This record gives sequence, structure tokens and C-alpha cells, in this order.
Amino acid sequence: TIRKIHAREILDSRGNPTVEVDIVLQDGTSTRAAVPSGASTGKYEAFELRDRDMKRYGGKGVLTAVANVNGQIANALTGIDASNQELIDRTMIELDGTPNKEKLGANAILGVSMAVARAVSKATGVQLYEYLSPSKQYLLPAPMMNVLNGGVHAQWQGADFQEYMIVPLGASDFQAALQWGAETYHTLQSILKKRGYPTAIGDEGGFAPKVASNEEPLELITLAIEEAGYRPGKDIGISLDPASSGFFQDGKYELKREQRSLTSEEMAAYYEMLVGKYSIISIEDGLAEEDWQGWKLLTKRLGERIELIGDDIFVTSPELVKRGIEEGTANSVLIKLNQIGTVTETLSTMNLAKSAGWGLNISHRSGETIDSFISDFTVATRAGKLKTGAPCRGERVEKYNQLLRIEEELGDKAIYAGRRAFVRG
Ligand code: PGA
Ligand code: ZN
Repeated sequence: TIRKIHAREILDSRGNPTVEVDIVLQDGTSTRAAVPSGASTGKYEAFELRDRDMKRYGGKGVLTAVANVNGQIANALTGIDASNQELIDRTMIELDGTPNKEKLGANAILGVSMAVARAVSKATGVQLYEYLSPSKQYLLPAPMMNVLNGGVHAQWQGADFQEYMIVPLGASDFQAALQWGAETYHTLQSILKKRGYPTAIGDEGGFAPKVASNEEPLELITLAIEEAGYRPGKDIGISLDPASSGFFQDGKYELKREQRSLTSEEMAAYYEMLVGKYSIISIEDGLAEEDWQGWKLLTKRLGERIELIGDDIFVTSPELVKRGIEEGTANSVLIKLNQIGTVTETLSTMNLAKSAGWGLNISHRSGETIDSFISDFTVATRAGKLKTGAPCRGERVEKYNQLLRIEEELGDKAIYAGRRAFVRG
């Protein structure tokens, strides 16, 4: 049972406030969890409660969310059986009472939801990934390493497309996958240097050069893969997250880097060209969250060849994923715990997607902490892919390092997903 819940305001990797929750169980077990925060957020994400007190952190303080944990949530959960995750989550959902968790804040609720799971795993003497796994069969994910940042994560100073990721499909284990990725990342750094580009990094640890087009990074990354000694497509594939809701205006996609304004059809044709030319295995948010019509067309055009991942369009919501499955929109979903707000609801969205044969991709947020909950969560749920930034910046690397530890502990039982984590390609 839960003896004590205590939240505080801490900073995330961008220097913005976020919620951290400490939990103490009746037997004295104590542990904590911290909540991440996005920048290119989907319109229908669960509500992130911020104080809007302009005298503190430009209005971004989270003292209200913290007070909600220390008051209402602590009152409701103290004395309750912590091992009943569903009950814990349901109690908070009912206490909040809004469809969007806007009363208590999804940031308040998720911090508690994750901390409870971690506390029970600790109290029962098992690792978090073990506790969270229904089958006790584990899968180490292919890391989707974001080596080149654009869009809002680079203050719109670089590419319009937000994320260019490398995925070591052909590695035999996670350790090798991470090594291949880090080597390629460093090779990319020297290529950029040689071309006179600065090698400063963006929010997720990738380089953020002022490239001439959204295609140029694909050339640079392909070259980096080769120069690092790997085969593009065979050993290492490329994933894109244009996060196109960020440059969708009045029904058009505004590519500032290229001084072009494209329709949904033209964007789909652009992607088709890029897929033909480079080793692209997935595209996330290729079209905008409100462009369901365009998404359908894109899925018809590319859905048999690559994984089309919905992030902003689905926001980890079971209702929106259900609509996507029914309408033939996308074939894969991005999963972010803080888009929906509890561990239980996240699992049900994942089960729904899985039963439709969709791909699963667990994701960090651009504003992160050193909490590596998602690493254990990905191994336990066998999602097969984890995107958590470049192999650079402490808050990103910590997630990858946790996977190294898990792989080491599992020994012979560790299986690396690699290419088979992708439902297409
Ligand atoms: P965000 O970006 O965390 O800033 O929303 C991540 C993504 O778009 O996948
Ligand atoms: Zn995204």
C-alpha cells in the first residue's frame, strides 16, 4: 500500500519546470519518477497543467500540478494497494473527471502513475521491465537515433523537417546497435565540419545545421553511414519525423528551407521520391494532424513500402487510433505516455494498435529528464522500437544506457528486435 506521495517542481532538459513524484510504500520502499514535456505537441494531447503565473518561468511553472499531487491525489491514493496499477490509474482519472485530464493535469497524474509502477517493482525485488512484462519475454528495441534536428527543435534555423533518425536494423544485439549509431553520429559530425557547417546540437542531441533543403540531410546521413563502414538500408536505415503539423498553414505545407508551398498530394510525391532515393524505412507525421484526407492518400501511396507512423494525429489516444485503423490512415503509432497520461491507458492504446497489425514506436519528448522509465517500458511491452534522441546529451543517453544494462542482465535471454520491429520494408 501507498504510505506517502510527494511531488516537487524540477527542471527538464530545456530548463523548463516539470513534475517529479516521490512515493513511499508501507514497507518503506521509496522511489521516484519524472515527467517529460513536448515542444511540437499534438492538438489533442492530454492537458499539461502549467501555472500561467507570468512572474515565474514565463508562466511555465508547475506548482499547481505539484499541489494537485500533494493534495487531492495523495489523499485519494494513500492506503491503496499500489500493485493494482489499473485501480490507481482509474482512481486518478475519476478524480480528475475531465476527458483531457485538465483539472489535475496529465503531468500530475502521469508522474504518480509511473512512480507507483516503479515502487512496486522495487518492493517486489524485480526490475521495472520485469514487473511491467505480462509474458516475461523481452525484446530489446531498435534505437531510432535522431542525429539531425530541425523544425522547432532547432528554433526553425535548420531543416523544416524536425527529425532525421538512424536505425541499426542489421545489428545482432542492442550494444552493437548503439555502437553503430554513435559511430555514425560522430562521422556525421566530421562530415558537417568538413563542409563548413557548425556542429551545435538541437533539443534532442542531433546536429542542427542550416541545410539548403530538407533532402540534404539525407545525403549527409547516407554518406556518414557509408564512411562509418556500414551499408545504408542493410545495416542502418533512416527514419524521418517531419512533424509536419508545425509547417502546415491554410491547407498547405510551407517548406521555408526550399521556398516552396506544397499540397498534401505534392508532399506525398516528395516523400515517394525520397523513399526511392534513400534508405528510408519509416516516416512519422509526414502529413499534419488535421489532414486526415491527405494521410489516407499517403497511406495508399506508401503504406505497403514503409512504416507510416502517426504521432500528432493519434496522440496515443485509443479513439483516434481506432479511427485510423478504420479509415486506413497510417500503419503504425507513436506512443508517448504523457500524451494520454497513465500507464494503463498507454497499454490499452498499444494493444489496440497491435491487434490491427500496426507497428509500435515508444518515444521520449523533446523536453526530458534522466528518468528512463520508457526504456524498461519498451523492453517489457515488446514494442520493438524506441526513439529517444541522439547518442548525445545526458537525458537521451541515459535511456540508451539503461537498455545496455537490461541487455547485460538478460544475457542469453536478450533478443534484439532490429529489422523485424518494422511492419513494412
Ligand atoms: P516533441 O517532439 O516532444 O517536441 O513533441 C517529439 C516528436 O514530435 O515526436
Ligand atoms: Zn513526432
